[in-house]
Amino acid sequence: MTLCPYTRAVTAVTSDNPHADYLQMVPMQFQAPLQSWVAASPLAVREALNNPHLGVRPTGEPIPTFLLNTPAESIFGALVRMQDGEAHPQLKAAIRQALEDIDEILIQQIALTVAREIAPCLPNANQITRFNYALPVCVIASLLGVGADEWAELVDEVLDFSRCIAPGGNERQRDMGILAAGRLSARLENRRGPLWLSLQRACAMRDMGHQTVLSNAIGLMFQACESTAGLIGQALLMMRNHDGDAQVLIEKVLSDTPPIQNTRRFALRDTQVAGCTVLAGQCVLILLCAGDESFAFGDGVHRCPGANWAKIIARYGIQHLSVLGVDPQALNNFHWRVSQNARVPEFYL
Ligand code: HEM
Repeated sequence: MTLCPYTRAVTAVTSDNPHADYLQMVPMQFQAPLQSWVAASPLAVREALNNPHLGVRPTGEPIPTFLLNTPAESIFGALVRMQDGEAHPQLKAAIRQALEDIDEILIQQIALTVAREIAPCLPNANQITRFNYALPVCVIASLLGVGADEWAELVDEVLDFSRCIAPGGNERQRDMGILAAGRLSARLENRRGPLWLSLQRACAMRDMGHQTVLSNAIGLMFQACESTAGLIGQALLMMRNHDGDAQVLIEKVLSDTPPIQNTRRFALRDTQVAGCTVLAGQCVLILLCAGDESFAFGDGVHRCPGANWAKIIARYGIQHLSVLGVDPQALNNFHWRVSQNARVPEFYL
């Protein structure tokens, strides 16, 4: 069966060899029924990610309709990831500053402490899957000031919220995500951890209020969750066939099969990408490992501010699992997380 380029691109995310699928794609291909383009060459990807007329949300729908009048509306509406235009640079500068204010040594210490807390002894395959999702969330939570007794519930809430706003979510996932959004907001009120305080300070300096701090504190946890789980999980898979320390394997995953494989943009007005005219309202699915270049952390104004954090958390997570005696050769049972953009192995017994 011949798949249309859009379908091929989203199914490639969790195929055995995404590159084989991507290699068959032309730089910019349009699919009329979906009014959607697929940008598949490094040039097209770079141009699309740096094009100011391509926004992160469709015009006229800054917040998905199903989130309106729910506890998730105010969170979604204030997220740096979901904004364009004049407000974005200031907000982005605040998030970047808040993350950079936290000393790298402290992130390393917390990553190790959290890893020991959530995996005190040799975990089985199911527990490794949970560890991979939980570690990034709990490192950030810990630095926001959320204590270990709340982590298990918090991880479930973050997973539910990310599932709800990810492309392709169903009605049940949406309902659960909306419930989780309300719980997350209540849970994070009045925290005093160093990351919360630096986010508060960075936002206050730019006249941004409490909702921005709260929403983006939640945003940091869900941005980190699936993506860093994909990085740890794929590095563990790679350890079956490659020598090298955690850091080398992490870089290899990021350059070969980045955990976030694509992202979307929407044309705010008619514009050009790699010589093709994208009309206002059309969507562009952007492949982040196109050709021989990887855009693992994106590019342009929405580029990931958490790259350094992700690498530290993944490195300490993998090292901890190795110290516990996890044998990657035994990790043969896994499936890919059902997703249109994240490549995350889920191990099972
Ligand atoms: C391996 C792990 C990670 C990967 C592969 C990854 C990848 C990405 C990518 C590709 C984007 C850009 C999305 C787009 O342009 O549409 C992004 C944005 C973002 N990431 Fe990450 N990320 C990772 C970990 C993290 C961590 C640990 C944090 C927080 C500490 C984080 C925070 C963010 C935020 C806040 C944004 C939105 C930035 C903006 O829209 O201006 N990420 N990430």
